[in-house]
Parts: sequence; C-alpha cells; structure tokens
Amino acid sequence: MLSMRIDTAKSKGTIHKDVYGHFSEHLGRCIYEGYWVGSDSGIPNTRGIRNDVVAALKAIKVPALRWPGGCFADEYHWQDGIGPYEERPSMINVHWGGVEENNHFGTHEFFELCDLVGADPYVCGNVGSGTVQEMRQWVEYMTFDGRSPMADLRRRNGRELPWKLTYFGVGNENWGCGGNMEPEYYADLYRRYATYVRNFSANRIYRIACGPNVDNYHWTEVLMKKSARYLDGLSLHYYTVPGPSWTEKGSATSFTETEWITTLKKAMYMEELIVKHSAIMDRYDAEKRVGLIVDEWGTWYDVEPGTNPGFLYQQNTIRDALVAAMHLDTFNRHCDRVRMANLAQTVNVLQALILTERGKMIKTPTYHVFDLYQVHQNGRQVDVEFDDLRYTLGSTSVPQVSASASIDGSGRLNLTLSALNPHDAVDIELDLRGFSAKSVKGRIVTANEMSSRNTFEEPETVGVVPFNGASVKETSVRVTLPPMSVVALTFE
Ligand code: AHR
Repeated sequence: MLSMRIDTAKSKGTIHKDVYGHFSEHLGRCIYEGYWVGSDSGIPNTRGIRNDVVAALKAIKVPALRWPGGCFADEYHWQDGIGPYEERPSMINVHWGGVEENNHFGTHEFFELCDLVGADPYVCGNVGSGTVQEMRQWVEYMTFDGRSPMADLRRRNGRELPWKLTYFGVGNENWGCGGNMEPEYYADLYRRYATYVRNFSANRIYRIACGPNVDNYHWTEVLMKKSARYLDGLSLHYYTVPGPSWTEKGSATSFTETEWITTLKKAMYMEELIVKHSAIMDRYDAEKRVGLIVDEWGTWYDVEPGTNPGFLYQQNTIRDALVAAMHLDTFNRHCDRVRMANLAQTVNVLQALILTERGKMIKTPTYHVFDLYQVHQNGRQVDVEFDDLRYTLGSTSVPQVSASASIDGSGRLNLTLSALNPHDAVDIELDLRGFSAKSVKGRIVTANEMSSRNTFEEPETVGVVPFNGASVKETSVRVTLPPMSVVALTFE
C-alpha cells in the first residue's frame, strides 16, 4: 500500500493553461497534410484547414500553439508566406527532408488555425538568417492597427484588423541549428532583436529568448546575467530519447521492458533540469518573473520503417502516454517557474497527438492524456507527497507512481495519477488535508500491452474510459491503479 498526502494549504500558485501548449513546425506532414489541405481538397476543411484535426484539438482545449519552427524558424522568411498563393515563392526545407516548401501555409493561415482551435499564437522569429528589420516588420504586420506600410500590406492581403500576438520567440536553438552561437554573442543579439519586437497598438508581447539545450547551465547563467531584464521567458528543450545515441534512438513500437523503464527514467530527467535551471534563474530573478518555457519536449524515436527519415514520423503507445503524464505532472509541480510548455509536434511528427492518413485521422494515447489533464488548466496547484515505492528492473529504478493535483475554479480537487509498472497494480491510501471529499469520479487511459497503440485499422485500442477504482469513505480514499495506467480523479 502506498500512502499519499494532498495538502491543499500548500501551493506554488496557478498552473498556467499554456503549460498544456503544443508545437507545430513546417516538418514532414505536420503542417501540410496534418493541418493544411487547401480549400479545394476533398477532405472537409475550413479555408484550407482540416476540420477533423481542429475539432480534436478544440476538444482538449489546446491553449497555445508554437509555429513555424523549430529549426525551420531560422530559415523562414515570412514575406514568402503572404499574398496570393500562386505568387508565393518556394523554398527548400533544408532541415527536414530537403523537400519543396510552397509557402501556402503562412502568417494568415497560422492565425486562422489559432482562431479555429482557440489557441494563443506563439510565433518564433528568425535570428539565425534573418535581419532585425525583417523581424520588426513581421511584428508590425501582425499587430499594428494604424496606417503603416506593413499594416497596409496586411490589409491588401485581406486582413483589416491586427491579430493578437501573445508570444514571440527571438530565434530557436541559436546554440545549434539557429546559428551555432555562443551564449554571450546570442545574449547580445537577443537584446538587439528584442528591442524591435515592439508592442504596437494595444498588443502586449511576451518575449521569449532561446534558452539552453538540455543541461547547458552555462547558457542559462549567461542569458540571465546579460539579458534577464529584457526577456519575459527563457526556453528549454529536452527530448526523451530511449536509445544510447541519436543514431540508435529505439523503436516507437517494438521495445523491451528495459527500454520501457529507460524511457520513463529519461522522462523523469525533466524534473532535475527544471530544478537546476530554475535555481540559476532564481539568482537573477528571485520573484520568478521570467518564465521557463519548455517549448520543445516529448519522445523522439527512430522513424517508422519505410517513412522519410527527414519527416520524423513515429507511432505512439501507452509508453508515450506515461511519458506525457510524467512531464505534465512535473510542469504542474513547478508552476511557479514553468509558464508554458509545448509538446513536439501535434500532428504526424514526433510525439504527436494526432496521426493522419489522407482523409483519416486517429488520436494517439498521448492525445488522451491531454484530454484527462485539461482539468489542471488554470487550476491552483496543491502539494502531493507520497512514499518512495520503486519499480525496479536490473539497475534501473523509477517511482511506482507519478502524480500532481490542483483545485479548479469551482472548488473541485483534480488529481492525476500514473502507474509506471507494466505488470503490477498499485494500491494507494490517500489522505486529503484541507479538503472534505463527498464523492469521486474517475477516467482512465490504460492498455493490455506495453506496445498498445491506435492504428488506422484499429483506432480505439487505447482511449479514455470511466474509472471505478477509487472510493471515498468518510476521510479515507482508496485507489487501485491498474498497471501502466493514467488516471484522472475529480473530488467534490
Ligand atoms: O522538433 C524537431 C527539432 O528539434 C526542432 O526543429 C528543433 O528545434 C529541435 O532540435
């Protein structure tokens, strides 16, 4: 029996809804086919954007969407993606398969997508190969409501009113594909570029600097020291790669239990990264004004056999569902510093929520976890403590359980729990401090096998079903988590 305590008097504050954000790049079949089919397609669409994908994303309340990259962002010239389609120049997508990018999905289409989904836009600008002027003009094009060359150009392209631009990233991975820069050099460039990311009209932009790659603590130190007062958020990228190297990442669907537990162990590393980067940020920003923006995270496996290696298409199993739950619990726990997070990459790429095949669409196990966890958006995080019972295989050990909790606007207590062991159920005795529960309702995502997944032939193998394994008797709550499961409980 595992003892767990939830203390509603202990809280780190509000879980920002954008912690449940996503990332979509011009990569493989994410934008084209995944979202964009064009208005003359036989696939039902709204002004070129497929309706089934929009409806699925709306249903889980996707709060924020990052675009156009990724590495693509520092190659992207926004003026190529506006105006009549037939006049938009093509480019080569050098990072992702060397395929032709026809620029049919550009600024107007991205804002249309955000409007349809109800997501706040997060646009990432080009520092690596773009100019200050180009970035400045893009912001003016998107947000200025008066007469100006860029605002008038926007009007000529069919959009009278400016859009609300919530987040702007000043470059992506500028330590790597975004220019191979040293942190000192980028910190100076950031200050220069960010100066011209102006708050036009009533729009107020949350400016995000390129942050560290994984455990590059020196990068965080330099950025905070040189630029903290010019930025609102600092990004962090970390992918869960089970294999020993980037050339042997492991299969998404065919794996051993050793790979299973290794994947979960590597997913847990996000906790250490947030703690350590945040400790550095605390030295320059004790009030935690600057947000840590985990704008790329998720599993990264070898591509599905037979698919273009540059398209990063991978399947998604119950293992990915657990990785997602563990990350989201971690972000919830650190809601005082983690202001936004963006899973890579929504449709058909990496740890996708959705897979498409022409007119067909399926929801992955990861999608269903985001469905369960939407209850935490804007909730007041509350403290969860539990015994350190372990699931061990060989020399690798992880906790039996991952958990986080929050109280929503109606005063309900929402608790998310995952059992990481693929064989054993976990019995939990729950002590609710400061909350008197009269009833509990539950939903669960689980599976029979470690590799269980949804396919176009069998799209409902892993889904959300009601959960009856929790009971409230006076002050005592008992829960039995099935092996490899993610559960959301709501107490009233
Ligand atoms: O998500 C795929 C790639 O991973 C992104 O383009 C880049 O930012 C990161 O290295």
